[in-house]
Amino acid sequence: MQNDLMNISAVKENFDTALGTVSNLDELNDIRVRFTGKKGDLTLLLRSLGKLPPEQRKEAGLEINKLRDEIEQRLDTAAKNIRDAENEKQEINDRIDVTLPERGRTAGAFHPVIQTMHELVNIMQGLGYSVATGPEKEEDFYNFECMNIPAWHPARDMQDTFYFPDGTLLRTHTSPVQIRSMLKYGAPLRVVCPGKVYRRDNDPTHSPMFNQMEGLLVDKNVSFSVMKGTIAEMINAFFGRSLKYRFRASYFPFTEPSMELDIECVECSGHDEHCRVCHGTGWLEVAGMGMVHPNVIRAGKIDPDVYNGFAFGFGLDRMAMLKYGISDLRLLFDGNVSYFMSGFEGAGKC
Ligand code: PHE
Repeated sequence: MQNDLMNISAVKENFDTALGTVSNLDELNDIRVRFTGKKGDLTLLLRSLGKLPPEQRKEAGLEINKLRDEIEQRLDTAAKNIRDAENEKQEINDRIDVTLPERGRTAGAFHPVIQTMHELVNIMQGLGYSVATGPEKEEDFYNFECMNIPAWHPARDMQDTFYFPDGTLLRTHTSPVQIRSMLKYGAPLRVVCPGKVYRRDNDPTHSPMFNQMEGLLVDKNVSFSVMKGTIAEMINAFFGRSLKYRFRASYFPFTEPSMELDIECVECSGHDEHCRVCHGTGWLEVAGMGMVHPNVIRAGKIDPDVYNGFAFGFGLDRMAMLKYGISDLRLLFDGNVSYFMSGFEGAGKC
C-alpha cells in the first residue's frame, strides 16, 4: 500500500510538473494521453491494484479515482484557459483601431475633354439650350445630304470618313444632330449636341476621332448679332474672362453666310511672337458657324420662309487644350482613361 500510495503521489507530482510547462492545446493533449490514456500512468496504477493485498485495494482504488477526477478536472480547466487566452489574442488581432488615420484614396476625375463638354453644356443650358445626342454611326442622308452636301459635292472630300458596307458611316461632324433635332422637336428650337466625330485624319494635330459640340438655334427673325452675342457669352464664360474675338468669312455648305471664329490667344494675348500656342499670330481658330442654310431648315421639315437660325460647331478637344494648357492633342487620347461621350445625362436622343 505504502508503495502504491507513493506511486500515486509521484504520478500527481509528475502531472503538476507537466501541466506547469504546457502552453498550447496540443501539448495539453499529449499530457492528457500520458496520464489518462489507455496506456497512461493512471491506467497503469489502476491495473497494478490487483497486485495489492485485497484489504488495501479499496483505499488505493479510491485514491487513484480521486486523482483521476482531479487530473481530468485540471486538464479541462487548463484547456479552457488556453482557449480563452487564444480567443482573446485573436480578438485583439482582429480589433479595428478606429483612431488610426485613414490610408487615403485617390479620387477619380473626368477626362479634360468631358470636363470641357460639361462646362460648355452648362453654359449653354444657362442660355436656354437643351442637350441632344445622335448616333455616331450615321446615315449618309443625315451626315451629308440633309446638310446640303449632295453626293457630287466637293465638300465631301474635306470630310472623307469611314464607311460601313451598308452605306452608313462614322459621322464626320455633330451637324446631323441638327437635322434630327429639327425633325424631332420642330421650331422654335435651341439645342447643343456634344459628341464624338470621325475623319480620315491622323497627324500630330489631327486625330481620326475627336469631339465636337454643335449648337443650333431656330426661331423667327434670328439675326447675325444674336449669334455673335451668344458665342461671345459662351467663350467668356468658359475662359472666365473677356477675350477678344473676330469672325473670318468662310464656307460651309450648310450655312450662309459662314464664318470661322478666332479668339484672342489665351496664352500670350498676341504679345509673344514666339508663342507656342498661336505661333505669334495672336489668334486661335476655335469654331465654325453661320446662319443656317434654307435647304437645311427645309430638310428639318421647318419652313425657311418663316424660320431662320444659326448654327455653330466647336472642337471640344481644342477648347480643352486651350483651357487646360495641354500642348499635344495626342495626350488626350493616350493612356487608358475611359470616358463616355454619348450618354450625356438628361440628353434627348435624336
Ligand atoms: N460641321 C462643321 C465642321 O465640322 C462645323 C460647323 C457647324 C460649321 C455648324 C457651321 C455650322 O467643321
